[in-house]
Formats: sequence, C-alpha cells, structure tokens
Amino acid sequence: MPTVAPPLTPRALRARWAVARLQRLATRIDCGGDTTAPFGPVSAMGLHFASPIGLAAGFDRRGRLLEGAHRLGFGAVEIGTLTPADPRPVLVRPVAGGVRFGVSIGKPRHVDWDDAEHACLRALRSFHAGADYVTLNPGRDCPSPARFAALAAAAAQLRDRLARRRRRPLPLVAKLPARWLDSDAASAIGVADAFVAAGIDGLLVSTEGARAARNACRLLCMLADALDPRVCLISVGGIDSVDEAEARLAAGATLVQIHRALLAHDPRLIRALGRRTRSR
Ligand SMILES: Cc1cc2nc3c(=O)[nH]c(=O)nc-3n(C[C@H](O)[C@H](O)[C@H](O)COP(=O)(O)O)c2cc1C
Repeated sequence: MPTVAPPLTPRALRARWAVARLQRLATRIDCGGDTTAPFGPVSAMGLHFASPIGLAAGFDRRGRLLEGAHRLGFGAVEIGTLTPADPRPVLVRPVAGGVRFGVSIGKPRHVDWDDAEHACLRALRSFHAGADYVTLNPGRDCPSPARFAALAAAAAQLRDRLARRRRRPLPLVAKLPARWLDSDAASAIGVADAFVAAGIDGLLVSTEGARAARNACRLLCMLADALDPRVCLISVGGIDSVDEAEARLAAGATLVQIHRALLAHDPRLIRALGRRTRSR
C-alpha cells in the first residue's frame, strides 16, 4: 500500500516556497566566478566562515539551499531543528563555496522536558556526521536556563567522544532566548557563563521580537565584554538589513543569522548583501 504524505501546514508550505524562491534566485545571481563573502571571511569555533551571514534554523530544514548558499552571500546554513525521529538529511560534500553546515537539534514537541536530554543526545548521535557544528535548541517549553545548561553539559561530553571518533572538532552552540538574558547584567552574564562552563563553543543569542531586537546590540556588547573571547557570539532576531547585520557584528557578534527577512517576497536583502561586497 503506498503511504500518503500528510498535507503540508500553511507554515510549512510558506517555508518550502521561500526556499524554492531562494534556490531560483541563487541560480540567477552571477558571481562572475567571485564567490567572496559580502562581509569578508571570519574564523570562529575553529572553523573558517566565508561570510558571517548565516541562514537561521527553521528556514531550510533539509539543507536544500546548501548548494546555492554561497551565491546568496551566506557563510553558513543551519538546518533543522531536527529531532531523533527525523530522517537524516542527504548532504553532498564538499558544500559549494565552503558554506558551513550547521545542524540544529532538539527534542520533539510532544516529549516532556524530563526526557529532553535523552532525545537531544540521540539527535546528536544521529546528525553529527557531516555537520560542521551543532546547535542545541531549547524549544519553547524549556523550564529554565539551568535545566538547559545541564543538558548542554551532557551534550558536550558526548560531543567530545564523537569528535575523537570522527577525528575533527565538533563545535557545539547553545541557542539562548532573550527572555533568559534580559534582566540585569550580572544575571545575564551568569546564564551565559553556565553554558561556557558546560563546554559550549558558541552562544546563539536570539533576540526574537521587536523589543528584544532593539536591545540586541546592548546585550551583545555586554556579553562580548564579559565572556572569554574564544566563545563565539552569534546574533539572530530582527536582522532585516545590511546595516543591522553590521551593527550586530560591531557590537560583538562574530556571526549573525537571518530568518524572517528572507520570508518576505523581496530578494532585495540578498541583493544588498551582494552589492556591499562589490563596492568595498
Ligand atoms: C517559521 C519559523 C520557523 C522556525 N523554526 C525554527 C526551528 O526549527 N529551530 C530554531 O532554532 N529556530 C526556529 N525559528 C527561529 C529562527 O531561527 C530565528 O531565531 C527567529 O525567527 C528570529 O530571527 P528573525 O527575526 O530573523 O526571524 C523559526 C522561525 C520561524 C519564523
């Protein structure tokens, strides 16, 4: 009996359509053989990124944009969030233009937080192969940063074993929602420090929503001042222009990620990223 795929939700349909649109755009962008990154290359977490601009998780869940991502000005694509039940994405190596391939992992929505660690460790085992780095996504129902930091510590231990086996490092990033960081400076630094102590290489500071996005640069400055400079700060949330991306980088982020601005039916952001390159 042939299996019938469940109908796509409007959100999933919109995401698929946005990915297809960018795939088409990637084929039309003429780099003239010049695939240099708009903002110039950066090194972070022991990896070389051709550009600090990345595609945030949830946009291209299966990595369909990886082949054209360098033409669109991206230095990284973060696929997922994948849970243990998801099939392994098919990945062609090496990815064109040296685009870094991040995998966001998390627990399925129906799984209780008491079982989140088990689910995340299973996802890490399943999806680390081929990934340049892995991001832990706390999801919406994580009870506290302390619980997530404990999960991150367990993931970092497993990561150390996997990295030894695959004979190359596997940087681990933790996504931190702004609500965990928006009280006073000392508490925000305390939260960030707990993840560094857990063995995390990067903090993906998510300033989702207008109010959080307005405070993003202040938060990044504070964290950059307080944390060990080897910890990579990645900024996501409210980046909708080249100027905003530059402001986040100037405030202390080494990498930035974009999501919603690319869902808009307007390729101008991508073109603007490209134009900056050429005029520099
Ligand atoms: C439709 C949609 C799906 C998303 N799915 C995920 C996801 O699966 N995993 C994740 O870590 N973040 C997910 N996000 C959050 C984005 O990665 C990003 O952190 C957030 O949208 C803020 O960035 P933006 O202001 O550029 O959109 C999703 C966001 C949107 C709008």
